[in-house]
Amino acid sequence: MDNRLREYARTLRMSDIADLYEEVEFENRLQYLTDLFALAIEGRKNRRAERLIKKAGFPNTDTLRGYDFSPVTFPNDVDRQSLTDLQFIEQRENILMVGAVGTGKTRLAISLGVKACLSGRTVKFHRAADLCNALLELYSAGKAGKLIRDIADADLFILDEVGYVPFSKAAAEMLFSVISNSYENQSIITTSNLEFGRWSEIFGDERLTAALIDRLVHHAHILTFAGPSYRLRQALARTDHDEDAILEDVTLTEK
Ligand SMILES: Nc1ncnc2c1ncn2[C@@H]1O[C@H](COP(=O)(O)OP(=O)(O)O)[C@@H](O)[C@H]1O
Ligand SMILES: [Mg+2]
Repeated sequence: MDNRLREYARTLRMSDIADLYEEVEFENRLQYLTDLFALAIEGRKNRRAERLIKKAGFPNTDTLRGYDFSPVTFPNDVDRQSLTDLQFIEQRENILMVGAVGTGKTRLAISLGVKACLSGRTVKFHRAADLCNALLELYSAGKAGKLIRDIADADLFILDEVGYVPFSKAAAEMLFSVISNSYENQSIITTSNLEFGRWSEIFGDERLTAALIDRLVHHAHILTFAGPSYRLRQALARTDHDEDAILEDVTLTEK
């Protein structure tokens, strides 16, 4: 390759052009340049999405492909289409996903988060218990600022698994300050196995719980998840048991 191309491309901040110029078929000058730019833009978008996904801190990179929406009941003002089109992020609205363990809340939250990254938005994913531990630890070392800012700066904040572990008062207060920061500046997806009527059990303090509910619930679209656990279903599918009979048994004993 003529070294000047690399040099000129770098000067124009288009170094990728020097790597891609042979990958495009030449038919005429206009078509060649247009296709080359299109390829460079696509490459940049993909690299940005990869960076955003990495920064988001997802535990995996689930996608909406193959997701079964049958456990999900939608509220009146949101349907499957508007949810997966990420309109709630555009409107800076919150989503609350409530339902039994294993019904696909985390998977749906991650899939929406990954899609948001693919469309160039910033996302932060945290399991509630891990976030509280991290906040407490960093706070006592006077270093919580970056974590709090990173969350506040994201277009979408996913707070997973509220309700599995009760929080200490200090942890609940830190979580509250993170959430108040983000109020109306970003979207939050919260997932929980507990209806919010029982959230005071995890946050302890009634007033704090009321304030948290005000932030997370009152302005949120609430999706409820029902049915038997997918984990259980998958485990059973690997054996020869009569799946329906066992699921019925489990559902009865859970009550
Ligand atoms: N509706 C669904 N469609 C496809 N897979 C699902 C669904 N619900 C759960 N799963 C699968 O079952 C497992 C548990 O789901 P998860 O999202 O962690 O449940 P939850 O967060 O509600 O406890 C995951 O492997 C997930 O991929
Ligand atoms: Mg979960």
